Amino acid sequence: MPTTFTRYRDDLEHKVDNEDEIVASILASMSRANEAVAAKHRHGVRDAHAKSHGILAGELRVHANAPAPYRQGLFAEPATYPVIVRLSTAPGDLRSDDLGAPRGMAIKVIGVPGERALNDDAITQDFLLVNDDHLPFGTLDKYLEFQKVLEAQPAMTDTEIRNATRKGKAIGAVLTALHRPLPVPVELATVTHNNDILGETFNSLAALRHGDYVAKISAAPLTRALRARTGKPIPKGESALQQVVADYFRHQDGEYSIRAQLCTDPAIMPIEDATVAWPEALSPHVSVATLHLPAQNTYSDARRVFADDTLSFSPWHALAAHRPLGAIMRSRARAYPSSSDFRHGYNQVAAREPRDIGELPD
Ligand code: HEM
Repeated sequence: MPTTFTRYRDDLEHKVDNEDEIVASILASMSRANEAVAAKHRHGVRDAHAKSHGILAGELRVHANAPAPYRQGLFAEPATYPVIVRLSTAPGDLRSDDLGAPRGMAIKVIGVPGERALNDDAITQDFLLVNDDHLPFGTLDKYLEFQKVLEAQPAMTDTEIRNATRKGKAIGAVLTALHRPLPVPVELATVTHNNDILGETFNSLAALRHGDYVAKISAAPLTRALRARTGKPIPKGESALQQVVADYFRHQDGEYSIRAQLCTDPAIMPIEDATVAWPEALSPHVSVATLHLPAQNTYSDARRVFADDTLSFSPWHALAAHRPLGAIMRSRARAYPSSSDFRHGYNQVAAREPRDIGELPD
């Protein structure tokens, strides 16, 4: 294990040229897409990760025995916190699960004490994770290009999206064989897949402060029955993922290892560029806590409505000790409230940041 970890300093972050303008363009494009999707469904949904597949109550059990540099912030002391987990897929629309899409795991830890990243009066720490190890569109310029591709999708049918994905994958295979860079629409097609959501390993993709250090946070399946699902395809069906999650948790518990990967060299493990996966050979993912999810009904109507319409998850619902870092993270400080405000306003539902796990309906 490396002995020198990069110490957190405010000057690890550098604003990019025209940052505010690029973020404004991302937000404007996002809003147009969000409004088009809401008009289609007559209901406001998230601009990304709109479709939920399971909403679970559980516990985050912080280990006592992680190596000292990893015991930071929320993970500094052994403790058990209640959590809400929302499993999702990436599109900002309600698409068939047959289309394939990146999978998301959003974890809301409730009742965390400490100084806040932003001046809110919340007591939550959210971790938003996706099943990859880097964000292909992880710089602001590239994210804007990606968002422009997404903006065209509300007008497309599932069949048109499926055909565009097939074509993109085929072109991607040729370009990759020729060692040529992939245009954004092609790269988008290559990141979709149909694996069982429960066997996936999820990653913050971008950096967070980790107390004295800097980390990417991930969640990897721990329970043998979950690990057995890694890389396994899901059955066909519009809502296959929701069924898979409900079936698994009807009678059995599941656990994920929550891990921190500490930055050892910002030149190799950049903070401003989330397109780069941090090499595990230089810094492994080290377990700092267990996410324990007991058997439960993962998709009651009351839970779906509460999680989809009332709750918001954001990397900026955070302790100062886990402040999101880098350009992509800074853009999210504006993007998440914008999407959340639109959908709460459109649906006329008051937003609520929970203070007690009892607020999550059964
Ligand atoms: C580091 C890369 C990123 C990861 C890992 C990530 C992950 C996620 C996840 C898991 C969700 C679903 C949260 C839930 O269940 O409520 C989500 C929602 C969302 N994401 Fe991201 N995301 C990333 C980057 C971005 C960027 C760069 C933007 C835009 C600038 C963005 C915009 C959104 C929006 C608008 C929502 C919906 C927010 C709401 O209405 O409550 N994301 N993201």
